[in-house]
Amino acid sequence: MSPKLRVGVMISGRGSNMASILAAAEAPDCPYEVVLVASNNPEAPGLAFADERGVAVWAHDHRGMKRAEFDRLVDAAMRAANVQMIALAGYMRLLSPEFVESWAGRILNIHPSLLPKYKGLDTHARAIAAGDGEAGCSVHIVTPELDDGPVVAQTRVPILARDTPETLAERVLKEEHRLYPAALAKCAADVLRSGNPA
Ligand code: GRF
Repeated sequence: MSPKLRVGVMISGRGSNMASILAAAEAPDCPYEVVLVASNNPEAPGLAFADERGVAVWAHDHRGMKRAEFDRLVDAAMRAANVQMIALAGYMRLLSPEFVESWAGRILNIHPSLLPKYKGLDTHARAIAAGDGEAGCSVHIVTPELDDGPVVAQTRVPILARDTPETLAERVLKEEHRLYPAALAKCAADVLRSGNPA
């Protein structure tokens, strides 16, 4: 079997997108494997989920540490696991420019809006308040700016008249779970094909 790209997933909480990435990795022809799930929150429910499935986990509480200092620990854990690409999945901390630069083009994030609209928090409430007809989710390459960087995949979801931020979030999340593993698989396959996976 051809080698798979080694992916590290970073989470801060629930980890439902991470779970969808793990589920897709079970397909024999999936071009990536998840070799580490890392978190800045040792209590993140997603960590226990990954651990129960035999995936290596790493956690360290970021509180009281400078951003760059904490990111150096994450970087060391990723390098020790020979990670080749990182997927942020509900990772609620901005990464230091040093970290982003050392993984340039190799970090993906999923954001629950149609980027470039509604970077940051409360995306669904903001889309509804603006009277938008549709919302959605975007997978993008991470650059030092929050929720910036080239969009690699997007799914659109109609906003219904009766939608609240919660009902909209639920429908968008279902699409996130489809979009993220597919986008990650495509990026992983591209990197493997480039012949420069390290
Ligand atoms: C998702 O909506 C994702 O788009 C955003 O944070 C949320 C994380 O949810 N970045 P989960 O932890 O993957 O369930």
